[in-house]
Amino acid sequence: MTTHIKLYPSGQSVACEEGQTVLEALERSGYALPNNCRAGACGECKVRVRSGEFDQGFVLDMALSQDERAQGYGLMCMAKPLSPELEIEWGTADAKPKLFPPREAQYAILVDRIARTPRITEFVLRPLGESMRFWPGQYVQLGEPGKGVPVRSYSLASAPRPDGEIRLQVTRVDADSADTPAGRTSRWLHDEVALGAQLRFSGPHGTFIGDPSVDTPVLCLAAGSGLAPILSLTEAALRRGFKLPVTLMFSARESADLYDIGLMRYWEARYPHFRYLPTLTRGPQEGMAGMLHGRIPAILGQQFPDLSGHSVFVAGTTGFVDDCVAAAKALGAQPTLIHTEGFFAQA
Ligand code: FES
Repeated sequence: MTTHIKLYPSGQSVACEEGQTVLEALERSGYALPNNCRAGACGECKVRVRSGEFDQGFVLDMALSQDERAQGYGLMCMAKPLSPELEIEWGTADAKPKLFPPREAQYAILVDRIARTPRITEFVLRPLGESMRFWPGQYVQLGEPGKGVPVRSYSLASAPRPDGEIRLQVTRVDADSADTPAGRTSRWLHDEVALGAQLRFSGPHGTFIGDPSVDTPVLCLAAGSGLAPILSLTEAALRRGFKLPVTLMFSARESADLYDIGLMRYWEARYPHFRYLPTLTRGPQEGMAGMLHGRIPAILGQQFPDLSGHSVFVAGTTGFVDDCVAAAKALGAQPTLIHTEGFFAQA
């Protein structure tokens, strides 16, 4: 039986085939209903069902309380329709994927800091109060203007987690090389913010987000801490069960600037359609097996002679992004399938 899932208030309709969950059906039709665990444990995919019958399957009470069930709410990652029509309350009147409204004053505790390279440190933040809902690829802003630390933007480096933990990867910009506001904020984070400190941030911001309905192979190009939003997007796509090839090319100056190699190897082992291609732009021409050499725009064609059927995601400094986009277009990538996140001087 095919069920027609109607979206309220837009009136749009999506076909849901026998055995599919509502979430799967929505995603196949290009609707980005928020989700996280996809297993009835986090509550992220909760919507109100206005009419129709569905089998909720086994979900945790903490994700969907008895009260919420009584009010007609359901978890769409596990819900399978039982009636020819199901009307759910989700989306805007024009039924386009909707970004979460950013919240200004959110607080978190710095619970860990991990040196990823000599210049890039990962900051792990646990929220106080309600967790921030965001799309993989988005960013937050933080700083302490009252102490002369300007507010700057930092991409979220992981997919949303049930406990709301977020990770930021920040490049330390030396005072003498770039005494910019961005440099000041990076040094404050690296040198002055201690474990256990309470930080105020706002977010989520940005529209560098994946398209769950994408049906092409995906190529991600990143340099430096531009890897952060790419990690978030890739983690979310792989976890979601995206089956087409995903390749991540990462550009570093030398081998000391490569990071998250363990995670890359795990993804390669766990997801055979995922491939990691690191490339070094300086330093000795050796390194780990499979290491490439040269800037991505210069060597892209050797790896991908034809990008006309790919979705391309690029993140890094604006110069890196511009050069990669030009190279991708020259190899046939369609402009509508190129997504970019350019970082300014803050790297
Ligand atoms: Fe976690 Fe549905 S995605 S409960």
